[in-house]
Amino acid sequence: MQVRHFLQLTDFELSEFEYLFKRARTLKQRLGKGELYQPLRAKTLAMIFEKNSTRTRVSFEAGMNQLGGSAMFLSPRDTQLGRGEPIEDVAEVISRMVDIAVIRTFKQDVVERFAQHSQVPVINGLTDEYHPCQIVADIFTYIEKRGSIRGRTVTWVGDSNNVCHTWLQAAQLFDFSLRVCTPAGYEVAPERCGDPSHLECFTDPLEAARGADLVTTDVWISMGNEDEAEARRKAFADFRVDQEMMAFARPDALFMHCLPAHRGEEVEAAVIDGPQSVVWDEAENRLHTQKALLEYLIVGKIKDNY
Ligand code: CP
Ligand code: NVA
Repeated sequence: MQVRHFLQLTDFELSEFEYLFKRARTLKQRLGKGELYQPLRAKTLAMIFEKNSTRTRVSFEAGMNQLGGSAMFLSPRDTQLGRGEPIEDVAEVISRMVDIAVIRTFKQDVVERFAQHSQVPVINGLTDEYHPCQIVADIFTYIEKRGSIRGRTVTWVGDSNNVCHTWLQAAQLFDFSLRVCTPAGYEVAPERCGDPSHLECFTDPLEAARGADLVTTDVWISMGNEDEAEARRKAFADFRVDQEMMAFARPDALFMHCLPAHRGEEVEAAVIDGPQSVVWDEAENRLHTQKALLEYLIVGKIKDNY
C-alpha cells in the first residue's frame, strides 16, 4: 500500500477531514474524562524542526505521548542536517527507524523530497508555503463554536503568507468565501488564487471585515522574513485587526490567530484578549486534531470511532 503523507491540505479529501474532525472530537472528550487510550504504543515520531516552535512541537510531543508512543525532537543544531547531510539521505535513514515524521522547514520542496524518500508518513509542520496542521485545527475550532463553515465568510487581514495560502486551499475544500486584505506589494500571488469563486481580494480592511463570520490574521514578519522587518512594519501599519474592524464583522464573528501574536502590531490587545477571540481553544485544538491525524496516518480509520 502506498504511504500517505500530509504535506498540504489538498493531500486529503473532504471526507477524510470530516472523519478527522469526528475523531478529534472523540479523542478530546476522552482525554477530558481522563481515559487512557494508547493505540500508538511502541511507535515513534521523529520531529525535524529547522525553525522555532512552541505549539507545533508541544502538541505533537504531548499528543504522541498521550497516544502511548514517543516523540523525538531533532534540530539541525544537533543532527547531521546542520552539517549538510542531504534531506533525501536523512529520510532514507530515519524512516527505517521511526513510524512517522513531522518536518518544519523553509521550502516546501524539502518536505516533498523527504516524503519521496520516506517509507513512513510525513506531516508538514510548517513551511514557507503552507501550514496545514494549523488550518485543520482552525476549521475544527470554527465548527466547534459555530457549526459548519460551508458558505461562511472568512476575512484574512495582513500578509499573504503560509497560513493565508492554507486558508486559500481550505476555502475551496470546505466551500466558504475567503476575503484576503493585504497592503500593495503583499497580495496573494496569482498562481495561488485558484478558483476565483472562493476568493475576493481587498485593500481596505474595514470593507474586507464587513459582515464576516470570522476575522483572522498572523504576524507581519514570518520566520525567514526578519531582514524585511522594518519595511513590513511600515507597509502593514494600517492592517492591524482592531475593535473598529471587528465592529464591521457580524456581531457573533470570531477572531482567530495561529499565534505567536504581537499585540499592538497585527492585532490590538483588546481584540485578541476580548470576547470574540478563540485563540486559546484554537491553540489547544492543535493537540486534538493532530492526535487524530497521527492515529489516522499510523493505524488508519477507527471503524466504530471508539
Ligand atoms: N501556530 C504555530 O504553529 O505555532 P508555533 O510556531 O509555536 O508552533
Ligand atoms: N506565518 C508564521 C506562522 C507561525 C506559526 C511564520 O511562518 O512564522
